[in-house]
Amino acid sequence: MKQTPETVILLNFGCTDIQKFARAIRDKNIYTMVMPYTVPAERVTQENPVGLIICADSDAADRSDAKAKFSSLNLPTLDLSGKELCADAAVKFCIDECKCSCSWKMERFIDEAIADIRAQVGDGKVVLGLSGGVDSSVVAALIHKAIGDQLTCVFVNHGLLRKNEPEMVQKIFARNFNMNLCYIDASDRFLDKLKGVSEPEQKRKIIGKEFIEVFAEAAAKIDAPFLGQGTIYPDILESIPLDGDPNAVIKSHHNVGGLPENMKFKLVEPVERLFKDEVRKVGRLLGLPSELLDRHPFPGPSLGVRHIGAIERDTLEILRNADNIVTEELLKSGWYHKTWQTFAIFVPVKTVGIKNGKRSYDYVIAIRSINSVDAVTAQVVHLPWELLDTMMSRIIKEVDGVNRVVYDITAKPPGTIEWE
Ligand code: XMP
Repeated sequence: MKQTPETVILLNFGCTDIQKFARAIRDKNIYTMVMPYTVPAERVTQENPVGLIICADSDAADRSDAKAKFSSLNLPTLDLSGKELCADAAVKFCIDECKCSCSWKMERFIDEAIADIRAQVGDGKVVLGLSGGVDSSVVAALIHKAIGDQLTCVFVNHGLLRKNEPEMVQKIFARNFNMNLCYIDASDRFLDKLKGVSEPEQKRKIIGKEFIEVFAEAAAKIDAPFLGQGTIYPDILESIPLDGDPNAVIKSHHNVGGLPENMKFKLVEPVERLFKDEVRKVGRLLGLPSELLDRHPFPGPSLGVRHIGAIERDTLEILRNADNIVTEELLKSGWYHKTWQTFAIFVPVKTVGIKNGKRSYDYVIAIRSINSVDAVTAQVVHLPWELLDTMMSRIIKEVDGVNRVVYDITAKPPGTIEWE
């Protein structure tokens, strides 16, 4: 039986900031869930909540039928329609009216998650695709703590990773954590398939399809009935339409996307109810290093979407080395953690310059640095000129094939964060 914490349910009657609000209340050690106003009352009852909070940007009077449905549950209810979302006031309600004991803590979450994983998988095997990103890494550490060698992680090197990334992932998981790690260097396979392909969507499709194939081949050999996944709560919430079919609400979310039909896994998704920073907290408690937990977000297709145009091995190496210099200087200067994403882009354009007293005709590297809250919009970071100057000098000096560095000053919109 899955263990459930003492729960307050936030009912979404059309509220933009509901996820943030749910997260803010959780910071007071009160576990919250978010459900759309269309959810059947029985579904709410299933969670055995101690109270309800109605959230709406404006007065939700026109949805009075839905309100009546919830009031019939006879639970303490706070109606914040059209009111400010204040976590302190909500907590007062949770403590005074709902009698919350404020015991939602990550340490306890870990203990319960471990018990749940053990109960779910028994002595079965679990396979997990490890990308080196926060979610899959934390899930790997959590499942490993629960079932040790019954877990096998598959780490696919598609040849588009950042410098030293394959080594870092192997060092952390195979050596420090002593996990079963199946490392597959599929670089040649990916780069061969990508040869001569310059259209961005086609590049993404090739990378995605190939990834599934390589992973499926490896997983088939492990022959595990369970698949571990780093699904997190926003993935689930964002897949529920506010006015959608109420019977379709809160179904298990499947981002197994694309695995072959005959691979029928049972999913193990131990952090599916956590927000991103809660996942990080769990990771820290499990001993994962900050270099992994506090990294900038990185797209699935990796350097593939930062190398404009058709990918050649030598120009990919130019990008990898330039990107590494950007990251090193950012870390050294203390700017790494002040930006959401900062990276290099390879621009397949040659311009004339002077290198070592001679005429050069080499490629352009662009640097992009942005801040964002949710990646939907982004602002350009005004990195100090001296820092940009250091990055530029090092790139020109240390990376053969580059004689010009430019800074991308485009916000999102109109630009996207990635160039492809
Ligand atoms: P854009 O370029 O659309 O990016 O402004 C928004 C955010 O999403 C990341 N991104 C991706 N992440 N797979 C991912 O996992 C992808 O295909 C992908 N494309 C973009 C991007 O780095 C930024 O944080």
